[in-house]
Amino acid sequence: MSKTLTLVRPDDWHLHVRDGAVLKDVLAHISNQFARAVIMPNLKQPVTSVDLAKAYRSRIDSALKQLGVPHFTPLMTLYLTDITSRDEVRKASENQIIGFKLYPAGATTNSDAGVTNIKHAYPALEAMQKYSVPLLIHGEVTESAIDIFDREAVFIDRILEPLRKDFPELRVVFEHITTKQAAHYVRDADTKGKNTLAATITAHHLLMNRNSLFAGGIRPHHYCLPILKREEHRLALIEAATSSNPRFFLGTDSAPHPKGEKESSCGCAGCYTAHNAMGLYAEAFYSVGKLDLLEGFASFFGPDFYCLPRNRDQITLVQQAEKVPFEFTLGDTVLVPLRAGETIAWSLAR
Ligand code: NCD
Ligand code: ZN
Repeated sequence: MSKTLTLVRPDDWHLHVRDGAVLKDVLAHISNQFARAVIMPNLKQPVTSVDLAKAYRSRIDSALKQLGVPHFTPLMTLYLTDITSRDEVRKASENQIIGFKLYPAGATTNSDAGVTNIKHAYPALEAMQKYSVPLLIHGEVTESAIDIFDREAVFIDRILEPLRKDFPELRVVFEHITTKQAAHYVRDADTKGKNTLAATITAHHLLMNRNSLFAGGIRPHHYCLPILKREEHRLALIEAATSSNPRFFLGTDSAPHPKGEKESSCGCAGCYTAHNAMGLYAEAFYSVGKLDLLEGFASFFGPDFYCLPRNRDQITLVQQAEKVPFEFTLGDTVLVPLRAGETIAWSLAR
């Protein structure tokens, strides 16, 4: 008999579903496993206002309706800019916006409209602190002179720590952490007993180190930002994710890009894991004998941080290898998922 794990249905606290024709197919993958997902706002036209978020939400809702999965809830975010106003933050807090996403300008996909200097965002951050709207952070400095493998650690010292000193009550989620420094920073931070700091961790950063970028040749489908790091960092992430510390919870950062835009002379950053993210997380937890701790990480600590109810229904994962296709056709684009042509050791019981 194959091993199984039944757990309360998880949520994805960091997801890219994009827009247009791919939207429905990405949602089909993710809603199989998850009840809710935090929808990233880095569309080509960034989601910078409540009105744009409402319009995006209604496109997502109609895709969900077409799919026949009304049980899935998108949690909308707004894209923080240099000119986000206090009033927009207040409006966001009154319209179920789950948080603002800070993209340092130039840090990642569609981040050109992001924040050029954190001080420019101080009026908005003040309002976020006041209205208790979380700040979701892409934590990398953008200076090209700083080694790409160091950009997250430098961000902590130069931006995150001063920011948290200036806004001690601001609720911060350090997104898709990739380093020992980030894992330890979040673990050790003194939040004065308040629920003001958390981090999401992706499945691919739990399973791969930077060697995967160059295994047998250059591997564009393993390129994401923040970039994969050394093995010691992967081990620190595994330790954090499997520590039962409620500051660490699941965020896939599944980020679809057309095959041609990944396999190019200047390929885009992003790994696609939505097809079986829970299978990948199960692999990671199982690899260190901590499968029983997956439920807290995947299903409890996220809603607890965001002050939302935990889900009630359950899913079951089976230790049964699932073959991953070489490609998916999503809408009008072809996409290469993580583990294309290989297997994932765990699958969803059907
Ligand atoms: C994301 C994307 O493609 O939107 N890419 C990535 O490498 N993770 C953006 C992001 O979250 O950095
Ligand atoms: Zn992301």
